[in-house]
Amino acid sequence: MSNDMLEQQLKALLDTTDWLTNAAQTVAFVQQGFEQLNWVGFYLQTSPGWLTLGPFQGKPACNPISFEKGVCGAAATSRQTQRVADVHAFPGHIACDAASRSELVIPIIVKGEVWGVLDIDSPAPNRFSEEDQSTIEKLCHVFIEASEFD
Ligand code: SME
Repeated sequence: MSNDMLEQQLKALLDTTDWLTNAAQTVAFVQQGFEQLNWVGFYLQTSPGWLTLGPFQGKPACNPISFEKGVCGAAATSRQTQRVADVHAFPGHIACDAASRSELVIPIIVKGEVWGVLDIDSPAPNRFSEEDQSTIEKLCHVFIEASEFD
């Protein structure tokens, strides 16, 4: 399916401004829309420098995660998407699900602050292309635009 189609579908799906509902729907949409994923979920910055587990699909996961740890922490600290082809080669990677081999983590910036991250894991090495990154970043933008945050 094309990027535009996915964006339009998610826009139609997010028919509320409730961020929690929209976060749950976004996670399910990504899980269904992309192949070879074993974990998709949000972590939220609920206290400064810490990420708390939010809506997700997959195995029970690590919680909380410091901004100083892992791929999620790197995305939150740098405010840059982390696209990791081989998680075993990433210093400080946190192995919540031993099946994970590659990972994409997108920072969610709301009103200039790191609201959280969207974390996506795959059991396949080098699963995420630049195009996947760009598509999923756009889906994150749809989530942000649709939602009101406390
Ligand atoms: N691997 C992540 C931790 C979260 S789990 O993948 C769900 C990391 O290194 O930050």
